[in-house]
Amino acid sequence: EQPQLVLGLESSCDDTAAAVLCIGEDVEVLSSIVRGQDAAHAPFGGVVPEIAARAHADLIDIVAEEALAEAEVSVPDLSLIAATAGPGLIGGVMAGFTFAKGLSIASGVPLVPVNHLEGHALSVGLEGGAELPYLLLLVSGGHTQLLIIEGPGQARRLGTTIDDAAGEAFDKTAKLMGLPAPGGPAIERLARDGDAERFAMPRPLLGREGYDFSFSGMKTAVRQAAQEAAPLNESTKADLAASFQKAAIAHLIRQTERALAQSGAKALVAAGGVASNSVLRSELEALAERSGASFKAPALRYCTDNAAMIALAGYQLHAAGLAPSQEDALALAPRP
Ligand code: KG4
Ligand code: ZN
Repeated sequence: EQPQLVLGLESSCDDTAAAVLCIGEDVEVLSSIVRGQDAAHAPFGGVVPEIAARAHADLIDIVAEEALAEAEVSVPDLSLIAATAGPGLIGGVMAGFTFAKGLSIASGVPLVPVNHLEGHALSVGLEGGAELPYLLLLVSGGHTQLLIIEGPGQARRLGTTIDDAAGEAFDKTAKLMGLPAPGGPAIERLARDGDAERFAMPRPLLGREGYDFSFSGMKTAVRQAAQEAAPLNESTKADLAASFQKAAIAHLIRQTERALAQSGAKALVAAGGVASNSVLRSELEALAERSGASFKAPALRYCTDNAAMIALAGYQLHAAGLAPSQEDALALAPRP
């Protein structure tokens, strides 16, 4: 069979992204362009949905052209166009998905709507994949979930956050300490020189059944500790970052370990922006080892938001016969 060329488009948060994949026996990423908007949002200390939507509308066609040019592929050569149709900030999702609809109508290349989380869930397939079914720890700025992934379109949720997402907790902690966005990498860097035992942090949902997560108690503890230790010097900031990171990762590991034992899955996979945290990755690796499971997490550039994972998910949904008809795809309303 001929290898297929797939264009992926992503615009659900603050990254405008496009990628071209060549999928035959292997998955080859021919190009993956991610245009962040950090500078546009920085003065506001967080992502401003209206600014994000306008930036996506400005950039999506440019980024798509760049991705096609880098891959040396032209639109008529494509087999599929896969685009994020939600969930996300609705203005941005509309900008990207509407562009995808237009491109599909103009070119006749079929459109596959993709759930952003499905993109993260299948992203490990960009690098060889993992044995099905696998336990997925999906940790991003908007979501924190434990899922059993049985295949494209087949996910069973074991747990989710009951308040903040893990990445959101990193971002809020960073903001409180006056660190630049995105907070996760800034906290990880700072935590390296910190004393993780200095500040006591709560251990959420201990003694509770199930595999849910909660980060709001940690957020409160960070705020109180920061107030008591004010003004924060560099070493206090490092200690606070280390204390928070240790508690957040311990919570993620504890619930993941319990879910892995219960599910009997032979493979553990991590995805989403927080999965680029190297301390979390090494603790997940150790957890898999003591549980007799394999561990895999995509390379950092495929953990954070990107369009290669959207292209792959769209391709796999289509191949599994789970993509909607072209008529339904074009009629689909993006959702927040
Ligand atoms: O998956 P992603 O790029 O976007 C969403 O779909 O949310 O994840 C972004 C999140 C942000 O909250 C960011 O602070 C966090 O991932 N993040 C990290 C690290 N790198 C990114 N959190 C902890 N440690 C990191 N090294
Ligand atoms: Zn994401």
